Amino acid sequence: MSDKQKKIIVAIDGYSSCGKSTIAKQLARAVGYTYVDTGAMYRAVALFLSRKAQEAGKAELLNDTEWVERQLPAISIRFVRVGDGQHVTLNGEDVEAQIRTLEIGNRASQVSTIGAVRRFLVAQQQAMGNDKGIVMDGRDIGTVVFPDAELKLFLTASPEVRAQRRFLELQEKGEQPVFEEVLRDLGERDYRDTHRQESPLRKADDAIEVDNSNLTREQQTQHILDLFNKCIAQQ
Ligand code: DC
Repeated sequence: MSDKQKKIIVAIDGYSSCGKSTIAKQLARAVGYTYVDTGAMYRAVALFLSRKAQEAGKAELLNDTEWVERQLPAISIRFVRVGDGQHVTLNGEDVEAQIRTLEIGNRASQVSTIGAVRRFLVAQQQAMGNDKGIVMDGRDIGTVVFPDAELKLFLTASPEVRAQRRFLELQEKGEQPVFEEVLRDLGERDYRDTHRQESPLRKADDAIEVDNSNLTREQQTQHILDLFNKCIAQQ
């Protein structure tokens, strides 16, 4: 990529476990852009709040929006390079492993319904895109965070394919998932993500839908690289 080439923002949205982060990472690496996993930011907030609620011995605090809002200034989230990947840190602590559990995923889906949490993270995400040259994935990137992103992708895959991927991922992490539970959990999370009042997951009108249920990883990578190159050529 020449230095003179105009940099763009690539926004990738879609349901849980449809391979957004895999493709976002691959694309970012292939074109020399920065990758930002916004789900990790919601997960880190969820972890912080869960710990605080546990310390207070009151799990119900997580549903108390005023309490949640008061905690936010104490949360600092950063991405740090580890090998050729990146880890998320919460107030300086590497929490990459802790945030990837099913439990924290569910908590993240819950706390992400709170407007104050969304505003807190969206402002940070927008600042990360100031210089463009970024691939960001999440649920509201093309609709709220970067409504003017030059390239917007909306990834989909069938619930069974997604549950199967999630199931294998959890197994690889040493958890012992039950397929039906993973599928049910995914359905609940989809419902919450698409029905919440604050920035529900939806495809932006100008987003390109990519259903990867029947695509190999290589086919998908090639397709998305083609879309990126076409978009760059139009700048
Ligand atoms: O992509 P993920 O599974 O790591 O995201 C965890 C939760 O965070 C997801 O269920 C919804 C929420 N989320 C969100 O509301 N907005 C984003 N931009 C990213 C994630």
